[in-house]
Amino acid sequence: MSDKLGILGYDYVEFFVGSAKMWAYWHAKTLGMDIVGYSGSETGVKGRTSYFLVKNNFKLVITAASKPSEYEITSFVSKHGDGVKRWSLKVKDVNTAFENAISNGAIPERAPQKSEDEKGWVEEAAIKLYDDAEIVFVNRENYNGIFMPGFGKPIQDIQLKAEETGLMAIDHIVGNVRINEMNLWANYLNKSLNFETFIDFGPGDISTKYSALLSKVVRSKEGASVKNPINEPYEGIKKSQIEEYIDVYLGSGIQHIAVATPDIIKTIAALRANGAEFLSVPDTYYDGLKERGMDVTEDIDELKKNGILCDTEGDGYLLQLFTKPISDRPSFFYEIIQRRKGAQGFGQGNFQALFESIEKDQDLRGSLEKNK
Ligand code: FE2
Repeated sequence: MSDKLGILGYDYVEFFVGSAKMWAYWHAKTLGMDIVGYSGSETGVKGRTSYFLVKNNFKLVITAASKPSEYEITSFVSKHGDGVKRWSLKVKDVNTAFENAISNGAIPERAPQKSEDEKGWVEEAAIKLYDDAEIVFVNRENYNGIFMPGFGKPIQDIQLKAEETGLMAIDHIVGNVRINEMNLWANYLNKSLNFETFIDFGPGDISTKYSALLSKVVRSKEGASVKNPINEPYEGIKKSQIEEYIDVYLGSGIQHIAVATPDIIKTIAALRANGAEFLSVPDTYYDGLKERGMDVTEDIDELKKNGILCDTEGDGYLLQLFTKPISDRPSFFYEIIQRRKGAQGFGQGNFQALFESIEKDQDLRGSLEKNK
């Protein structure tokens, strides 16, 4: 039982970026998040600047170096570009989770450590993930201040006009790894976090005319509240999006975060009005949906108008859409997802249309050909 680690669900995700302030602005303006916390020299933290952003249960920390000597951040950003450094799991007891993970094969990054101020205490520990990322075990239950010690209110009162996006919480976090690394990391997560493999897409399950990938989804055994797909390139005649990621990110790392909404039509319309850029699928995709006679509550013309994808799964279905990469390198992007009637999957029925759309963008970047 995953309960022996006391995992309660996702907590925050932290990015390392070139400019935390600009990234915070983008997330506030585009995803409609609130900038509720700030950490930097004004709050007694030297060398780095962080913003804490919240939208319902979706929480991000965006961090940049404010001094060139902050090597943990500067070396990460100079190698990978802007990207996810760590994602965290809320646990009942950090020590128990960490000791359990380590005794089951996890690679330690940071031993349990408490930080304290007059508002209470927070405890964290971390294990290694992929080339240069971490999974953090965190307990913030005994802290009443903003996020954790070292954070205060934002120095500037940043008021940005954004449409209400209704984003609720992290649904899943996806990693991209090199050829032959998928099983290694799936086994690592299953063993050290006591997860299980939930879906296994083998050769031929996910492919277009040009490229292919393999994917395994691991998840926590209890309540399936934490889900982590892992993608690996598979042989194709052209370069797959996973290979492109590995090339531009210089290694394995986090590819996307899926954020759940209870009303995807409203959410996508708001995100588009806020300036988000999404992958586009051809109009013929929706003819196919109508022909398949899918039993969905939403109006298909409304889905078409907003470019939203739909995939059925038993009695349930899911609605989803992917942004274009949000920073300079074609690496990290967001997915917006709404699960209906208990759907648990990841939109396999949409992969074809989606990957053809990604390949169109790859072609524009000149990175679809193998030798580039
Ligand atoms: Fe996804």
